[in-house]
Amino acid sequence: MDFGTYETLIVEQDDAALVVTVDRPKALNALAGQVIDDLWALTEALMRVGEQGEWPVRGVVITGSGEKAFVAGADIVEMQGMTPEQGEAYSRRMQEVTTRLEALPVPVVAAVNGFALGGGCELAMACDFIYASRNAKFGQPEVNLGLVPGFGGSVRLADRVGIGMARELVYTGRPIDAEEAHRIGLVNRLYDDAAGVLEGAKATVAEMAVKSPVAIRICKELMNEAAPLPTSDGLDLEAKAFKVAFCTEDKAEGVRAFIAKEKPAFPGR
Ligand code: CAA
Repeated sequence: MDFGTYETLIVEQDDAALVVTVDRPKALNALAGQVIDDLWALTEALMRVGEQGEWPVRGVVITGSGEKAFVAGADIVEMQGMTPEQGEAYSRRMQEVTTRLEALPVPVVAAVNGFALGGGCELAMACDFIYASRNAKFGQPEVNLGLVPGFGGSVRLADRVGIGMARELVYTGRPIDAEEAHRIGLVNRLYDDAAGVLEGAKATVAEMAVKSPVAIRICKELMNEAAPLPTSDGLDLEAKAFKVAFCTEDKAEGVRAFIAKEKPAFPGR
């Protein structure tokens, strides 16, 4: 499967992982319109992974170019010239990218190697897991600019860390370091440096790559859809997803292999 070439993204396949590097280091990888257009086109291609049982990648890793930043936010220079209507369209388009990332058929890992502020923190929160190097800094600093979160932060930060902590981080605009982000549950794993976080993210993709891709895809859909529901509705969705899994060739193979004391060879269907 061809994932394309992009002006502002470096897209490289590394075994089971597709490593996507936002590449505007001179602007600390800020999310200019072109970056958003590129992410839009890439997610379009990635949504086809798994069709007809083809799984050319088993996970996506998103990181930032250079030593300093994952993504330092929306592009403040571009926003200076926007009308309110253009601002709303900018917000909606990147929100759609974040929704697509959440809906991809494979897990997405943010490998945060420096500043993840504003739109950068929001991009990371659209990923399934956030891994970070010890020099990473997270925050929603929009109030410093007379702005509000625009790429999902007002909703997803509360989902990740609870409404009280999310309110404090949004109303103060205060950045937090990687240790604190780990302690409050925003970050899953911490690494000493940028190389470590990238290797860690790729290792997790490799760990998932020997599991059933169909089961992981169903788990991802289920956990996204069930999370905002009351428990009884979530449990109902879970039972339906369980039934869907029973219809797959992967389930037949996984159960067969367990009973035969063999390693499963999942067909991915
Ligand atoms: N947009 C555009 N350019 C940016 C940028 C951004 N978000 N962040 C950094 N840059 C540019 C700087 O203007 C600078 O460019 P020049 O070299 O041409 O002057 C270059 O990147 C390097 O940045 P600094 O010199 O500022 O680097 P620093 O080490 O002194 O500071 C920083 C690093 C603390 C991250 C600082 O750059 C900063 O505060 N950046 C803005 C962070 C921010 O407010 N992000 C939120 C944006 S609003 C948003 O994201 C809304 C939303 O939810 C959608």
